[in-house]
Amino acid sequence: NKTWRVGVAGLGTVGGGLLQFLADRPDFAPAGDRAVVTAVSARSKSRPRTVDISGLTWFDDPVALAGSSDIDLFVELVGGSDGPAKAAVETALKAGKPVVTANKALIAEHGAELAALAEARGVPLMFEAAVMGGVPAVKIMREALVGDDIDSVAGILNGTCNFILSEMEKTGRSFADVLREAQALGYAEADPTMDVGGFDAGHKISILAALAFGCAPNFAAAEIEGISNVELLDIKLAKDLGYRIKLVASASRTDHGVAVKVHPSLAPLDHPLAQAGGALNALFIEGRRVGRIFVQGPGAGAGPTAAAVAADIADVMTGAVRPVFQAPAGELKPFIAVDPSRT
Ligand code: HSE
Repeated sequence: NKTWRVGVAGLGTVGGGLLQFLADRPDFAPAGDRAVVTAVSARSKSRPRTVDISGLTWFDDPVALAGSSDIDLFVELVGGSDGPAKAAVETALKAGKPVVTANKALIAEHGAELAALAEARGVPLMFEAAVMGGVPAVKIMREALVGDDIDSVAGILNGTCNFILSEMEKTGRSFADVLREAQALGYAEADPTMDVGGFDAGHKISILAALAFGCAPNFAAAEIEGISNVELLDIKLAKDLGYRIKLVASASRTDHGVAVKVHPSLAPLDHPLAQAGGALNALFIEGRRVGRIFVQGPGAGAGPTAAAVAADIADVMTGAVRPVFQAPAGELKPFIAVDPSRT
């Protein structure tokens, strides 16, 4: 059995959770190989952390870590669609190293290009943790449903927004106050505008749309509205009328193309989406043969997201290499948005 030397770039909430898990359980994967973090990179070497990194090789630059011959697998948890995250992922793939990332912005904006690079080199590019944290949404779309034709996917894909809306309703606290708590709990992005502006959910639904409809992800074509304008009064009035306000992300196949949207929406109180409270994520998938599937679970936070990263590491170690999306990158259809001005 092999020991995989794992390099981790980015030691925030998810990186800390992953280091802790692999330190405790390096032999977690079913096939018997071990995953050991040997090298790391982050913005600050000396920041106080819950995990001890003193025995690990330190890199100031994630790109240098990605290209280092001291690692066998690169985990990208830096975040951001461009800059060091993209450069590091490209460097690792070009060096023939498998990449596991939780970076939804990167995959939603550059997924097709990175898939082409990974497939040309024959190395896996995995991103289970990018969508719905601990809920295996990518695996469901990419693996479990290859035998179906998906018509639509719709759900709650941002834990921070769901937490804010749920807590405002439950406690009457202000938007800003609950957002601060979501940040303290490790749900929110480094820049919470990504959450409350709907962009994070937009990234995630763009990835699910690509997987569902065999097209290249195209975040630029998504129609996005966040929750910054939702007030306590809206939440109360909606409830009086029998509804709950939820930030719903959806993608559907239409006669004119694929429609990808994120909007605050009214869910009837007895609807499963209305009942997904706290920071939960939830997703409906409508398939022609399978019918309707509903999954729900923790979509943010250290534990769930690190578990999803670990699941991808296990897949890499067991050698389960598939096309990055459902079809090889060269065969991905162009993504046609319903509103042509947005493509
Ligand atoms: N900020 C994200 C959320 C983290 O709140 O859902 C998980 O992607």
